[in-house]
Amino acid sequence: MGKLEGKYAIITGGGKGIGESIVHRFLDDGIAGIAVLEYDQNLAEEMVSRLDDRGAKILPIQCDVSNEKEVEKAVAQTVEHFGTVDILVNNAGITQDGMFHKMSDDAWDAVMNVNLKGAYHLCKHVVPIMRGNAFGKIVNISSISAFGNVGQANYAASKAGLIGFSKTLAKEGGPKNINVNCVAPGYIETDMYRTVPKEIIEEHIKNTPLRRLGKPHEIASVVSFLSSDDASFLSGQCIIVSGAATT
Ligand SMILES: NC(=O)c1ccc[n+]([C@@H]2O[C@H](COP(=O)([O-])OP(=O)(O)OC[C@H]3O[C@@H](n4cnc5c(N)ncnc54)[C@H](O)[C@@H]3O)[C@@H](O)[C@H]2O)c1
Repeated sequence: MGKLEGKYAIITGGGKGIGESIVHRFLDDGIAGIAVLEYDQNLAEEMVSRLDDRGAKILPIQCDVSNEKEVEKAVAQTVEHFGTVDILVNNAGITQDGMFHKMSDDAWDAVMNVNLKGAYHLCKHVVPIMRGNAFGKIVNISSISAFGNVGQANYAASKAGLIGFSKTLAKEGGPKNINVNCVAPGYIETDMYRTVPKEIIEEHIKNTPLRRLGKPHEIASVVSFLSSDDASFLSGQCIIVSGAATT
């Protein structure tokens, strides 16, 4: 029996990269259904078309997580389709890097609105469902940049914000059997990371004691563990998955 059997999940930004890997891993773990809330609906549909007949378990929903009205509608659509939400993975994220003294208000707001406020919107509409069920697992995807990284003041602030947010929801949700944790990936080979210049990639690998970049499935396996009853007494934590790299 798969460890996520009978469970229904929402994964944001599941059209590619780490999010797509989480979709695959949840399916391998026997999940009953997944709503994929994706900004780019084509990406979500292409992702489903790459799956075998298990694609029928996916409900792709076009949704910009920074827009609360769209999130509210998407959560309602998920509940109408699957009946409930047991697991929420706030994975959608963007970067708009630059030195802080040159950073525009727009770059600050865009990153905060997707990475931090997006998770807030999802939790605002999903936590009441989980409280009603007296069951829930929330995993927020942070980053090792949360601990400070040159050129990423906006991104670091959003990802550090997610850690404090998660620890607080874990304290508030504990009495209702809701586990809330963060995963902070290091340098992972996805489209987001491919924008990094070659010489910086070499530096990152040098700074990673395991001497390589991570793969999306190496994040997905930890998210799956945290979403399962194998991690039933694990809450309020930020698990760093970085091959021992720090920024
Ligand atoms: N790749 C890395 O090295 C790395 C490291 C640390 C943390 N992370 C985090 O992991 C998560 C996934 O990153 P990735 O590397 O797979 O990136 P990616 O760019 O490959 O995928 C991000 C996905 O999020 C979606 N998305 C973006 N904005 C959205 C919005 N407003 N609403 C809904 N969906 C939206 C995109 O369409 C895309 O499918 C992000 O939160 C990222 O910050 C990545």
